[in-house]
Amino acid sequence: MLQFFLVLLFTTCIALVAPPYLKDIKTAQNLGEKLFFDPILSKDSTLSCASCHKPEFAFADHVAISPGVAGKMGRRNAPSVMNLASRSEFFYDGRANSLRHQIHFPVEDPMEMDLSFSNAVSRIQRHPMYPELFKKVYGRQPDEALVRDAIASFEESLETADTEFDAWMQDRPNTMSEAAIRGRTLFMSDRAKCFDCHFSPDFTGDEFKNIGLYDEKRHIDKGRYEVTGNVADLGKFKVPGLRNVAVTAPYMHDGSFQTLEEVIDYYSTPDKFVAHPINMDTLLRKPLNLTDQEKTDLLAFLQSLTDRQFLRIKQP
Ligand code: HEC
Ligand code: HEC
Repeated sequence: MLQFFLVLLFTTCIALVAPPYLKDIKTAQNLGEKLFFDPILSKDSTLSCASCHKPEFAFADHVAISPGVAGKMGRRNAPSVMNLASRSEFFYDGRANSLRHQIHFPVEDPMEMDLSFSNAVSRIQRHPMYPELFKKVYGRQPDEALVRDAIASFEESLETADTEFDAWMQDRPNTMSEAAIRGRTLFMSDRAKCFDCHFSPDFTGDEFKNIGLYDEKRHIDKGRYEVTGNVADLGKFKVPGLRNVAVTAPYMHDGSFQTLEEVIDYYSTPDKFVAHPINMDTLLRKPLNLTDQEKTDLLAFLQSLTDRQFLRIKQP
């Protein structure tokens, strides 16, 4: 009996003196969110995942190339990490096949966080509060698998579907404009062919395609080829999902298009942008020559894919 009271007294004392952060962290998702925003995962403790995947831009970056530690510059645009829960390929070249597998890449990339993953994990193990938080959530001390699981759990929570498009699809009250509805029809049609590559509820089939942004001169990123070594994969990149695309400018693997208007102009007349593309998909070789009306409609459709949470934020 006395023992019971002592334990009770002890736990009450802990609860009373427990620092506030312990109360907020209840799930793997909460813990992953904390890690996602914590610079502890970068060599000089200056960069967190959120430094490049910024919440206000649907967890993408608004500059073409995000600086890594000590201002080092990589070569690809930081994409949105929202709506990835159903993806099977990660990165523009697909070098990771799950969110849990993906996590050590940015941590170890010398152009990004530049810290070995095992060092990152031992920092977390030595940290004054993380070991306690991991014990609370997982019942054991942090290790590589748990760090991966926590961050991936947070990323998996970033699904968005509160858009005009979704409301319209489900016959709920909506303000999907006539232009956006026409844009959707065009998007899915044989005329524009967008849906051939951008299909599924998130507008990607997790395939790799070459849309003509590879010419070995100005556009030198070999994309999927870097992973497979197969010449058929030269200049192929993962088809990105298009949810929230209106807030994730600039666009494409290198961030070379500033606006959605520019992206649509590209699909209309790719030859005006890249004169001699290599290995371009046959679907796109003949310019679509979209009319101004068709371009406006496609733009309106792409804008209808923005989750309501981002409509409140004024974009730069
Ligand atoms: C210095 C900027 C930077 C930092 C820091 C960074 N990333 Fe990224 N992230 C990128 C870039 C650039 C890409 C695209 C790289 C590629 O495709 O080769 C990317 C791609 C991704 C992807 C793949 C998205 C997709 O659609 O395939 C995920 C997931 C991701 N990052 C998560 C993270 C996590 C988690 C962290 C923190 C551990 C992190 N990133 C830190 C720049 C960054
Ligand atoms: C042959 C397959 C294919 C077709 C057809 C296609 N796309 Fe794409 N789309 C891609 C690929 C692959 C990328 C990424 C290319 C890169 O990163 O360099 C992309 C990128 C984009 C992006 C930029 C997304 C981002 O986050 O950077 C938008 C917007 C887009 N496509 C819209 C469209 C529209 C609108 C159409 C129809 C006019 C269309 N796509 C037709 C494969 C395709």
